[in-house]
Amino acid sequence: MENGKRDRDDMEVQTAPRKPRVLLAASGSVAAIKFGNLCHCFAEWAEVRAVVSKSSLHFLDRLSLPREVTLYTDEDEWSSWNRIGDPVLHIELRRWADVMVIAPLSANTLAKIAGGLCDNLLTCIVRAWDYSKPVFVAPAMNTLMWNNPFTERHLCSLDELGVTLIPPIKKRLACGDYGNGAMAEPSLIYSTVRLFWESQSLVRFRAVSKRWNSLLNNKSFINKHLSLSRPHFILLTKSKIYSIDIIDQRVTLRELHSSCRDSNLQYSRITTCDELLFCKYPPFHSKMETALWSPCLRQANLIKLYSVGKEFNAFGLGYDNSGPQKVHKLLLYHPPQVAAIYECASHVLRYINAPYEVRMPEIDRRSHVSLYGNLYWIDYNLQTGEYFIQSFEFTREIFKPFCLLPLQDNHCLNELRLAVWKGDRFSLLKQKFLRRKIEIWVTKNKIDDKEEVVWINFMTLTTTNLPNLFHKKCGVSYFIYDKTLFMCCGDDEASHPCIYIVKGDVCNKIQIGYGQITLIPHIKKRLACGDYGNGAMAEPSLIYSTVKTLLGVGGASAKCWNKFKP
Ligand SMILES: Cc1cc2nc3c(=O)[nH]c(=O)nc-3n(C[C@H](O)[C@H](O)[C@H](O)COP(=O)(O)O)c2cc1C
Repeated sequence: MENGKRDRDDMEVQTAPRKPRVLLAASGSVAAIKFGNLCHCFAEWAEVRAVVSKSSLHFLDRLSLPREVTLYTDEDEWSSWNRIGDPVLHIELRRWADVMVIAPLSANTLAKIAGGLCDNLLTCIVRAWDYSKPVFVAPAMNTLMWNNPFTERHLCSLDELGVTLIPPIKKRLACGDYGNGAMAEPSLIYSTVRLFWESQSLVRFRAVSKRWNSLLNNKSFINKHLSLSRPHFILLTKSKIYSIDIIDQRVTLRELHSSCRDSNLQYSRITTCDELLFCKYPPFHSKMETALWSPCLRQANLIKLYSVGKEFNAFGLGYDNSGPQKVHKLLLYHPPQVAAIYECASHVLRYINAPYEVRMPEIDRRSHVSLYGNLYWIDYNLQTGEYFIQSFEFTREIFKPFCLLPLQDNHCLNELRLAVWKGDRFSLLKQKFLRRKIEIWVTKNKIDDKEEVVWINFMTLTTTNLPNLFHKKCGVSYFIYDKTLFMCCGDDEASHPCIYIVKGDVCNKIQIGYGQITLIPHIKKRLACGDYGNGAMAEPSLIYSTVKTLLGVGGASAKCWNKFKP
């Protein structure tokens, strides 16, 4: 009887799902006074252990932590180890934890993590971390520190590691200044981590509980969380792909690294569709491949079109939304008139009818866009001489002329670019051949099949230092945000990649890849020690003239620009 009971208990122990193990860490920011509160939030849901840096102990009150939470400091790292064979605390904690949350993250610890330094218990755990397990960071620092270019550089390194940022908020800081840099509230940090954790386990299931189902179908829940997402745009240069992010009028570039990118081969086009990037290689390159890439999930898939037989080229990506699950499809073509559909999940290829008049231009400088899973591009009616938007609907697999463009007397060499505006409308950029003036048109209403499309002239930009898009051969894309035009130009033989930020009659040109620190190279001469060689500082007159020239040009560029408002 006794044994039988023990067996049952053992069984229960083995089958009951264990709580997630969360390692909470605090570094030396004043926000560490909230660490006790943070531990209380997590302790109700997870098994919690805490690690703190020496500086954080100036701010946090050990007694504010829940009794069941063990607190580890740098002293414990050394006092628990005496001889070879003893467990090493940072390795043990790294093994124990399912998730690590560093809140607050000080500027110093951020820099150390970005550089791989590990001179205390907290940073040793991070340095030994297995990045298939999630790490969250909630920075907290003075606005001046937050806005310092180092912060962005260091955050980019953390992003590359797969660390998730819980951004700071704007408020009156401990030092009295008002601005961005305060740690997110403990309740938000907790809900972010918990939502992530639970959604990770949810994605494995086809069915979820009633409560989750109603939550996931609740429009206000979805809208609330979608409203937290920020606009993201993609910039393609010859060798790199950046995501452009705008937070509080701050423009941030983040390089996206794709595991399937062939460094010898450049993508000729990138379009976004349903959180996926469709990356197109130049037409008819020897490998006949195309890539689908999810930067969110950090996964990329190469689709080898040569394996499907004919010499197909991928034209665009979309999805069929008619079933319970989205079915992603590629529209393929083989000139002059053969079209096919490739289903990404099943790898099935099917030929489809392409009406004679439909053209799928190979080298299209005018951008293809994806909206609600359908594909749209600018086309020209040879009979009527009119420019219009052609569409391909992936659900019914049909081509359809969508609407005319608002162009009178259009010259065939005018520059036209199509983009998605506000997530559910189109915008059109038009620049007259060899003129600089740019017109931006937008559709008045949401795009749907029922309503007639009405175009309105959104803005006309006449500033003289606009680029001439006719001469830009590579990767011109644009987006409108807050009545400002952001025009991204890839690099070519003649110029470096850059972003033009145009508002009213002011146009700022920002070159990418140039930091704010400019190197004035040293020179060769007899050095103070008597040796002859390189290493002497440039002459003061040269330093002076270099700085003067740079300032005269309008300032160097950086990866991040505070306040793009001209
Ligand atoms: C009163 C006071 C408040 C501070 N607040 C912050 C802060 O909010 N954020 C920050 O990054 N550094 C802050 N610092 C500086 C850090 O404590 C300092 O850089 C320290 O070396 C961080 O060490 P740690 O990253 O190892 O914890 C503050 C310093 C003092 C004296």
